[in-house]
Amino acid sequence: MSTIAIESSLQEDRLFSPPPNLSKTARIGSLEEYQRLHDRAVTDPEEFWGELAENELHWFQKWEKVLDWQPPYARWFVGGKLNVAYNCLDRHLTPERRDKPALIWEGEPGDTRILTYQQLHREVCEIANALKKLGVQKGDRVGIYLPMIPEAAIAMLACVRIGAIHSVVFGGFSAEALKDRLNDARAKIVITADGGWRKGAIVHLKHQVDVALADGGVPSVETVLVVKRTGQPIHFDPDRDRWWDDLQEEFADTDCPAEPMDAEDPIFILYTSGTTGKPKGVVHATGGYNLYTHITTKWAFDLQDTDIFWCTADVGWITGHSYIVYGPLSNGATTVMYEGAPSTANPGCLWDVVEKHRVTIFYTAPTAIRLFMKLGEEFPNARDLSSLRLLGSVGEPINPTAWMWYYRVIGGERCPIVDTWWQTETGGAMLTPLPGATPTKPGSATLPFPGIVADVVDLDGNPVGENEGGYLVVKQPWPSMIRTVYNNPDRYLSTYWDKIPPKDGQWFYFSGDGARRDKDGYFWVMGRVDDVINVAGHRLGTMEVESALVSHPAVTEAAVVGKPSDIKGEEIVAFVTLEADYTPSEDLEKDLKQHVVREIGALARPAAIQFTEALPKTRSGKIVRRILRALAAGEAVTGDTSTLEDRSVLDKLRG
Ligand code: WTA
Repeated sequence: MSTIAIESSLQEDRLFSPPPNLSKTARIGSLEEYQRLHDRAVTDPEEFWGELAENELHWFQKWEKVLDWQPPYARWFVGGKLNVAYNCLDRHLTPERRDKPALIWEGEPGDTRILTYQQLHREVCEIANALKKLGVQKGDRVGIYLPMIPEAAIAMLACVRIGAIHSVVFGGFSAEALKDRLNDARAKIVITADGGWRKGAIVHLKHQVDVALADGGVPSVETVLVVKRTGQPIHFDPDRDRWWDDLQEEFADTDCPAEPMDAEDPIFILYTSGTTGKPKGVVHATGGYNLYTHITTKWAFDLQDTDIFWCTADVGWITGHSYIVYGPLSNGATTVMYEGAPSTANPGCLWDVVEKHRVTIFYTAPTAIRLFMKLGEEFPNARDLSSLRLLGSVGEPINPTAWMWYYRVIGGERCPIVDTWWQTETGGAMLTPLPGATPTKPGSATLPFPGIVADVVDLDGNPVGENEGGYLVVKQPWPSMIRTVYNNPDRYLSTYWDKIPPKDGQWFYFSGDGARRDKDGYFWVMGRVDDVINVAGHRLGTMEVESALVSHPAVTEAAVVGKPSDIKGEEIVAFVTLEADYTPSEDLEKDLKQHVVREIGALARPAAIQFTEALPKTRSGKIVRRILRALAAGEAVTGDTSTLEDRSVLDKLRG
């Protein structure tokens, strides 16, 4: 974070204007036009969003009221009825569009599938009928634990089509993490695959499901639907497990009408890390989510009918939900999905995909960009990337050096970069340039999307001064805002609305990020201000990793902090105290790392574990993470240490 702060202040005055030829044809072609839209949206949100909803989406029944805001609860398009799968598929089955590729998929071993709108629609209907046959009804929860294969998008859309609520769990999560999420959602069915490909090896997804469900681990699950992907032998329980292919065949060529959903019916739950040991089930609502992901894809990425849009995120994260599946398909665009890791087949395999499919919009994470930088520019330079016209970044602050490299090497100095700041809870991009309108500055997510009232404030809700650090908040409701935390309405209040109490009728959505605004009002997001760390663009709660560690018999206490990392942004360092009959050793360190992988998944594997006799605590027993962060980063411990209960701990930690 500190490097970003230094680098970003150096880049402040570097402005990259939108390329004039792009502005000419862009959806939003000038800063004045952006300003006009934004002003209108803020002055009369109901008129603005109502008009967009009317023009951009298909409704089975029109709403009675655009927005019902009873802070901090918003209801959008009250009384309206629609179906997101209908908006993503059926309405594109026109003679002009039905044969257009909806999904271009590249498998890791080199296999490819292209599904046109018509084909995707058919497969979604078949699986939707299959789900119904398996007893899934409107409102039931369906767990999806799949690799990056077309069936992931098909499964999501099939749920949405019949009004079932999907809860996608990233395939990198362990059986234990999957079990917690399935139980919290009380999922009726789990859709998985025999395995997935990851860097040439098989990830045994079905096996993980078996482990999660063993011994009544998830009592709500009645059926496991299994896609055949890798083909290795798996355990198959004939009473519980069904093959995807068999059911698809049974319902071949059947239609399945799209269920008219209330605009406020939940569309999905997606679990995300917070500051406690238990992840939160973020609930999104049908109408608002559909509209906001639709319009942000269209405006922030200046989506045109001829674009080939590639978002490299995994569908298990919100970025994959919003910008691989729902946003692009609702617009009738061609979306690309890629199963492999950034450098699996060869260090240029991503650029092979760009070249092969003539990708025009490429959206990835800073951690990937820094990896590409390290691999060397000879790999992208050896491919034809001339089809690209726009680049995007998401997931963590992008350091200006990575921005400049991305701009020069991948974008050939002709593609604008949209650095989009947003979160699982916001559903879609909140701070972002509009590529034909907003001049960009390397490292800044620039300005709010039209209609988003963002600010940087102190804990009393007062706006901070120019270039002063503060809390990034949102001061007006927006259509795709989180509706609640599943099974835990109190947590919705305590996490997002109680941190900065409302003042004079003004409510503050607390993002958990720190930011500043420069003299032009541009936002510079500096990173999390809570106990959440961002490892390679993946959000992890320090408490989650700590609870995983203390569940190991050797561990008495654990404190986890983030340490700056060149590629991953941050990596995990754990400070651990041991039970009396254990002594520190390399084997134990390995065992503890493996234990975290088992409890959460490889994404949470600590980079280092430091054994210590005691942790630095205040007299009231609170761990002083600031000290641990400095130690992990190899920096001097500065600031007040007089509040420590036992100052000798510090010397011991320094070794
Ligand atoms: C961080 C991912 C700076 C931020 C869409 C946020 C960013 C968290 C940016 C959400 C960005 C995301 N600049 N930071 N452009 N985009 N973040 O829920 O800390 O996985 O709170 O959603 O990622 O992560 P999540």
